Amino acid sequence: MISHILPEARRFEEEEGNKISSEERPLFHLTPKIGWMNDPNGFSQYNGYYHLFYQYYPYTKKWGPMHWGHAISKDLLRWEYLPVAIAPDTNPDAGGCFSGSAVAMDDGTHLLMYTGVVKTDDIDNDTFIQTQCLAIGDGKDYTKYEGNPVIDINGIPEGLSKYDFRDPKIWREKDGTFRCVVGGCTTDRKGRILYFRSNDGFKWEFISILTGNDGSLGTMWECPDFFELDGKYVLLTSPQDVMMNDRHFSGNITIAKLGTFDEEKGIFHEESEQLPDIGIDFYATQTLLAEDGRRIMTAWMQNWDSIVYTEKDIRWFGQMIVPRELSVRDGKLYQQPIRELETMRKDPVIRKNVLIDDRIRLDGVSGRTIDMTVNIRPESENSYRKFEIRVAEDEDRYTSLIFRPRGKNFEFNRTHSGTRRAVIHMRKYSVPENGGEIKLRIILDRYSVEVFINDGEMTSSNVIMTDLSANGISFWAEGRAVIDVEKYDLSFD
Ligand code: FRU
Repeated sequence: MISHILPEARRFEEEEGNKISSEERPLFHLTPKIGWMNDPNGFSQYNGYYHLFYQYYPYTKKWGPMHWGHAISKDLLRWEYLPVAIAPDTNPDAGGCFSGSAVAMDDGTHLLMYTGVVKTDDIDNDTFIQTQCLAIGDGKDYTKYEGNPVIDINGIPEGLSKYDFRDPKIWREKDGTFRCVVGGCTTDRKGRILYFRSNDGFKWEFISILTGNDGSLGTMWECPDFFELDGKYVLLTSPQDVMMNDRHFSGNITIAKLGTFDEEKGIFHEESEQLPDIGIDFYATQTLLAEDGRRIMTAWMQNWDSIVYTEKDIRWFGQMIVPRELSVRDGKLYQQPIRELETMRKDPVIRKNVLIDDRIRLDGVSGRTIDMTVNIRPESENSYRKFEIRVAEDEDRYTSLIFRPRGKNFEFNRTHSGTRRAVIHMRKYSVPENGGEIKLRIILDRYSVEVFINDGEMTSSNVIMTDLSANGISFWAEGRAVIDVEKYDLSFD
């Protein structure tokens, strides 16, 4: 019997999604066509387009049986929706098509690798058995592989959980063969990353446990990604259930580990770990290696622990971050917004050596779709203790970016952004600074604030649902600080 689940979802998003005007969405951040979106999936370059799929439930703004939504772009900023790519409509994925990835094949097809889940009441009735599955397509329509699943828990070492075994990230080696990493955990819930190889993308063999955790960093490790960059190997993963300590926030977080890779044994040797992002809304990263050599990362600009349901009349939920170019310098991962963003810069306002000793607004510096770099420094040694930039400001509402040179910390605070929800609204974390000097590049796109600190040494990604009429920006210092500001409006015109 042919399933109606996919055609129904396509019809629904076409009829209802097209009612959402582009003004009701961010300008250049991807949102779902309609309904709910979580992780980015299948981020790849294929037939002249970037493809970005997403965990998708079109019918409500809540998580539900997962489909894969689909969008394409030439520049990673202007997104065009394609119809839902896959839906939970076969035996191995009857409960949902969870996260996964994509590669271009030599025969010209596009291969999706995803986690198929099937509901079971083995433990409690909210549990899924998880296996890795494939779908093959032409960039628009995809057919599930009849040999699914291609990887299941049989054939991998004992002691791993079949209920937490998901999010395959597939890539091709230079010789054309395939590898993938899959997130998992032991039956007593210690995070593991599993490493597999294949000659053709269809028949897979387990190689090794790439790396894992003793239980001190959360439980299940979701959404792994693994690649070489600037002479180091980088592992990105999103651990669940992390307990707060002096380096990690609690809940669902994303970490980057840098190290070396013993290819023969399939073992990653960690040298350092960092939080790539210190904002409230950042999770489930995925990268691609672009044809021009750039390693580009996207992520869900949201987090399971801080979901702020949008206003009733907004019919989408969830955004992706602005795609970022990654690099490794001095053993650290750096992120820069993709360079294509510079083509959107209009109407520069450039001010140098502005003394801030009170709350100050600058002519021409306002807006909700902007790219603004602010260099902050003391007027004389230790001459300021706290610096604040308010964005999305009006008489009642504002969102603060605060830097305290002595505390060496950066704070994002949306407590007064107009929210009526009591989820976390403030994040503070130590940042690299130099005698009170810090550089902040701030990207606003209607419903988000992304900050690139010190040329991308760290970032802070956050959603704000403040009414768009609040578009003021102000600067304030406790003490005396001096700033340079370079601000552009962002638009496609
Ligand atoms: C991460 C995640 C993935 C899973 C997907 C389900 O946010 O939990 O591990 O594949 O979301 O929607």
